[in-house]
Amino acid sequence: MLFELRLLAYRFLKIFQWPTSRVVPIPRPTTFVGPDAALELCETIAQFGLKRVLIVSDAVLVKLGVVEPMRAALVARGVEVAVHDGITPDPTYDVLQRGFEAATAHRADSILAVGGGSVIDAAKVIDAMVVSGKGVQKLIGMLKVRKPMLPLFAIPTTAGTGSEVTVAAVATDPVKHVKNVVIDPKLVPAAAALDPEVTRGMPPHITAATGMDALTHAVESYTNRWPHAETAFHAVAAVRMIFANLPRACADGGDLKAREAMLLASFYAGLSFTKAYVGYVHAFSHKVGGMYGVPHGLGNAILLPYVLDFLKDAPLAEQRLAELAVAIGAGNAGEPRAALAQRFVDRVRELNRLVGIPEKLQQLKQTDIPEVARAAMIEAHRDYPVPKNMSYAQAQALLRGCLA
Ligand SMILES: NC(=O)c1ccc[n+]([C@@H]2O[C@H](COP(=O)([O-])OP(=O)(O)OC[C@H]3O[C@@H](n4cnc5c(N)ncnc54)[C@H](O)[C@@H]3O)[C@@H](O)[C@H]2O)c1
Ligand SMILES: [Fe+2]
Repeated sequence: MLFELRLLAYRFLKIFQWPTSRVVPIPRPTTFVGPDAALELCETIAQFGLKRVLIVSDAVLVKLGVVEPMRAALVARGVEVAVHDGITPDPTYDVLQRGFEAATAHRADSILAVGGGSVIDAAKVIDAMVVSGKGVQKLIGMLKVRKPMLPLFAIPTTAGTGSEVTVAAVATDPVKHVKNVVIDPKLVPAAAALDPEVTRGMPPHITAATGMDALTHAVESYTNRWPHAETAFHAVAAVRMIFANLPRACADGGDLKAREAMLLASFYAGLSFTKAYVGYVHAFSHKVGGMYGVPHGLGNAILLPYVLDFLKDAPLAEQRLAELAVAIGAGNAGEPRAALAQRFVDRVRELNRLVGIPEKLQQLKQTDIPEVARAAMIEAHRDYPVPKNMSYAQAQALLRGCLA
């Protein structure tokens, strides 16, 4: 009962978040798209006159040879480059601190992130640490950066998080096993390259999970209560592209058309949620990611249909899910809304099956359900304009449904 009152207080306080979400301008990165876009971006970085670039990446990508062409392209144009490959999935405070030390040691005048959401988020935080002189913990929360960032560039190697276009960066507290978020419009990179070549080697299970993360961004932002003027276009375009291209990208990693469409979909879903926010799926997924290390996209993919089952009878969510069903060709606008909304949820389950996402959260333990539900309800009711209120009891019931 006391906890429900706390959630009510969060919902009340959120009213004051609404004006901020309208008036704070969010920049957009200059974007290069297509095969060779990554090299074009490197050429442009050199033309900007930047001299000391720190490439932030991870050991897997360096070993796969994904980073080398960008390093070589910069060096060939007279740029001094250092490569920091120390980022691990869901970077923790100490990982970010080592990245900060690498940037300082190189006296970097700019940062180029080559990697998935973990790498791009890490580059954002490292950059903010360099310019603000603050440690990670002091940057967590909203609008804490205050100083102009070093020019930041991003080449996403997964098509999922949309981090190349968002105001957010996730940093994991390794002691409390909690994922915290740094939010500031200054984190949006100056430029990004959506280059299908760099996602070519992504294995099917990572392609599937990260692609479902992008779908979750689009669906959660589109069903939320505070859409922006552009949300409908960005979210619906992303959903259409994901349904049409994710199975192809998973079945044939070399299908560069599908890969490019997934990068664009992820970018558009990022544009959508950076203004209209995410919802319960992310709130649950952040907690199971922090607790058990469940990859972000995988957690979202599994949870998405369960959350949609809960939301689908709320008038706003029903309307939007029905529109999405029509957009993906699963029905026509004249049909009853409830039937269309249900069909969209069924299609999400079907897409999960098609790309090999399991139905249940294997890592979730029955005894942890109260803690997961509690953390998720605080995050959702405090931060996201969700279309229907979920009680603590309903959150626990939903999680019981996800038990393997
Ligand atoms: N900033 C945001 O707006 C935002 C949004 C959603 C998620 N996130 C965060 O992003 C992180 C997840 O990022 P992600 O889903 O992109 O995964 P990731 O960056 O954690 O990468 C997952 C794995 O895929 C590998 N990988 C990446 N690209 C590859 C490629 N082309 N070929 C082969 N292997 C490749 C990586 O080496 C890594 O082992 C989470 O921490 C999540 O919380 C941030
Ligand atoms: Fe996400």
